[in-house]
Amino acid sequence: MNTAVYPGSFDPVTLGHLDVIQRSAKAFDRLVVAVLINPRKSVTAEAGDRAAEIRAVVEESAADVSERVEVVTFDGLTVDLAASLGARFVVRGLRAVSDFESEMQMAHTNRKLSPDVDTVFFMTALEHAYLSSSLIREIAAFGGDVSAMVPPAVARRLGRDTIPR
Ligand code: PNS
Repeated sequence: MNTAVYPGSFDPVTLGHLDVIQRSAKAFDRLVVAVLINPRKSVTAEAGDRAAEIRAVVEESAADVSERVEVVTFDGLTVDLAASLGARFVVRGLRAVSDFESEMQMAHTNRKLSPDVDTVFFMTALEHAYLSSSLIREIAAFGGDVSAMVPPAVARRLGRDTIPR
């Protein structure tokens, strides 16, 4: 079985992340979306709650996606998570050239740590390529409307909660 891990902060999950989940799920037998637990960062919601939001959206997807996708939280190294899941691939989205440098560095570093793990990149769909979780957090913190950028439940939460800037 070909398993891939899609790690990220997903704070919050955007329509761009969801596009990458939907498309990459079709390329693997099993896709594990892994939400990083980062106690050093102030976050808009606990990792477990962010994972539950992603799970709820994935469950509404077509069967060829929902049956293959699991959502977990993790701390530690992505390569260690991949090893524990038997995953040989890491999935990441690329929005623009500006993502490339840091993504290339992470992919090479992960490969050094674990030569059996390869990173596979999906180009984020053009209509979502401008989306950024940090900008969305900023817009929400100032009371702006993010409903075109994130799933409806996430937009409701961000509109309701006090968002750290
Ligand atoms: O959504 P993000 O914030 O761009 O995701 C970054 C993430 C979670 C993929 C990266 O920080 C990560 O892999 N963290 C786990 C710790 C780790 O493995 N660090 C070495 C990466 S080369």
